[in-house]
Amino acid sequence: MRTFLFSLAMSIVVLASAQSSSKVNQPNVPMVLTSFDTIKLLAPDTLGGKPLMQAIVHRKSDRTFDSRNLSLKHLSEILWVANGINRANGKRTVPSAMAQYPLQTYAVLANGIYFYNPQKHQLEPVAKGDFRSLAGKQTFVDTAPLNLLFIAKARNANDKFEMAMMDSGYCGQNVYLYCASEGLKCVVRAGAKEAELLKAMNLDTNYKFILAQTVGY
Ligand SMILES: Cc1cc2nc3c(=O)[nH]c(=O)nc-3n(C[C@H](O)[C@H](O)[C@H](O)COP(=O)(O)O)c2cc1C
Repeated sequence: MRTFLFSLAMSIVVLASAQSSSKVNQPNVPMVLTSFDTIKLLAPDTLGGKPLMQAIVHRKSDRTFDSRNLSLKHLSEILWVANGINRANGKRTVPSAMAQYPLQTYAVLANGIYFYNPQKHQLEPVAKGDFRSLAGKQTFVDTAPLNLLFIAKARNANDKFEMAMMDSGYCGQNVYLYCASEGLKCVVRAGAKEAELLKAMNLDTNYKFILAQTVGY
């Protein structure tokens, strides 16, 4: 009887953990942001989504967003298409002039600002708190679940950030097409409360805000 009860209990534990780990991969289960820790992102489903030509048909800008969090799957794939690594030689999903990759990608979530580490494909905590209102000057940024920030570090004292600006267009367009493919909403934005934002992120004057992109449902 004791062996039977033990086996039953173990089966329940295994079933429950299988269910919760499969839930994490589901596109429509919003993330629960309880703690402000490193977020290990999921490997992208590279066989998913709509065909490219269909995604292009549906690409557009949206400016109304539901406040519900993105699923871990969507968050993971957005970061990967925006600035992730897609080859063994370390090069990215986006092109970059002279492969210099001046852009860093940050995710402003409801509970804080995170740095996207492409090598580890994870989000690393930068500033705890709700800083979404600094990510733009339009009211939808305050409640949208994700504001991406593309920020460049000066390559030298005279850097005018032209290369970073051009590079950012590719990041934004990859995210646009991914959103169109997954039925998500997004818009790229040139405006943010830059000085306050960089201060909150503890970034000095060597860094420049280049482009933002709001994403959600
Ligand atoms: C570099 C750039 C900056 C933009 N900045 C903003 C912005 O600050 N706020 C905004 O609502 N839309 C912004 N947009 C989105 C454009 O307004 C939008 O792409 C344009 O109206 C065409 O609409 P569509 O994207 O739906 O085709 C920007 C687009 C680009 C390419």
